[in-house]
Amino acid sequence: MPGIAELPTPALLLDLDVLDANLRWMADRATQLGVALRPHIKTHKCIEVGRLQRDLGARGVTVSTLAEASAFAAHGFDDITWAFPVIPSRLEEVRALAERVTLRLVVDSPEAVAALANLGVRLHVWLKVDCGYHRAGVDPASPDAVRLAERLATAPTLEFDGILSHSGHAYAGPTRAEVRHAAEEERDTMAGFAGDLRERGIRVPAVSVGSTPAMCVIDDLTGVTEVRPGNYAFFDYTQVLLGSCGVRNCALTVLATVISSQPGAVHAVCDAGALALSKDGGHPTAPEPGMGEIFADYETGSLSPDTRLTSLSQEHGRLSAALPVGSRIRILPNHSCLTAACFDAYHVVRGDTVVDEWRIRRER
Ligand SMILES: Cc1ncc(COP(=O)(O)O)c(C=O)c1O
Repeated sequence: MPGIAELPTPALLLDLDVLDANLRWMADRATQLGVALRPHIKTHKCIEVGRLQRDLGARGVTVSTLAEASAFAAHGFDDITWAFPVIPSRLEEVRALAERVTLRLVVDSPEAVAALANLGVRLHVWLKVDCGYHRAGVDPASPDAVRLAERLATAPTLEFDGILSHSGHAYAGPTRAEVRHAAEEERDTMAGFAGDLRERGIRVPAVSVGSTPAMCVIDDLTGVTEVRPGNYAFFDYTQVLLGSCGVRNCALTVLATVISSQPGAVHAVCDAGALALSKDGGHPTAPEPGMGEIFADYETGSLSPDTRLTSLSQEHGRLSAALPVGSRIRILPNHSCLTAACFDAYHVVRGDTVVDEWRIRRER
């Protein structure tokens, strides 16, 4: 097996032991909280990681693209939630997939409900609810929300799975108390709305919530039946700043090489740019703004206090210190999901040894 030192850069490294510990930790947490875990695989887009999650008890998976759904369906995953408002121009693909596996769709508009009800195949459908994030989802206090739930519950070709939310506003933090507040707001909004619907005689089989920061703080999920965290598989620097994890819990890093450093300059350039790390500028609470942190020592999880990526162009990364050309650096990304989506494969590593290579399904 080759060592990390022999890999061409930029390279995406996935630490197998850290990944394994993260997956076990969340599986245990879901068990303790009394909810099913349906991990969001958009973070890794990788069949092998999905299999590890399934072996640890995941009940189905969540995807963000139809390409992820197709790839996982082709590898024996037969219960898939596409947690994205249905795209009208992709309904033929939806129909084909729904004939092969249990495909669960998400809607928040009468147009989408009508389109699915008329597709001519029996479909499972969640009603997407806005739990305070204000991105997509019906307002649970509005009469429109109840009307849509009624239509889903009574449409002869649809199976109403229940209500689904994503607490993306937990990422704002900045304190752990505020993350907890967002998580509790999601739980209370969803449990309350499920109760309202049930009082009106509408059967709500399941209540699905989730984001990684919320799952890292919440200690009571009464009224919820399922959670869908994704990022926890890898974690990243944003999660470190939010208090979800420590640096040693981050499983995904980018290996890069310094390719330019001019005499007298106070900076250097490496070969990891925006197409290796994305342009995610990280969390506003970072002590120093940066596009990626550099490990001083990966094994102990210590980050360099004075060297970080200060800006990225397409393939260039600008470093805040004048490192010699040829030096190799290991970068902790701000956002692991977007970083993984920049690469075709993970180099799976244990210590300094590359033990495997796993494909990333980043088609759309
Ligand atoms: C609908 C939905 N559910 C679940 C998640 C998982 O969130 P996280 O990656 O914070 O765990 C996301 C992430 O964007 C999402 O959009």
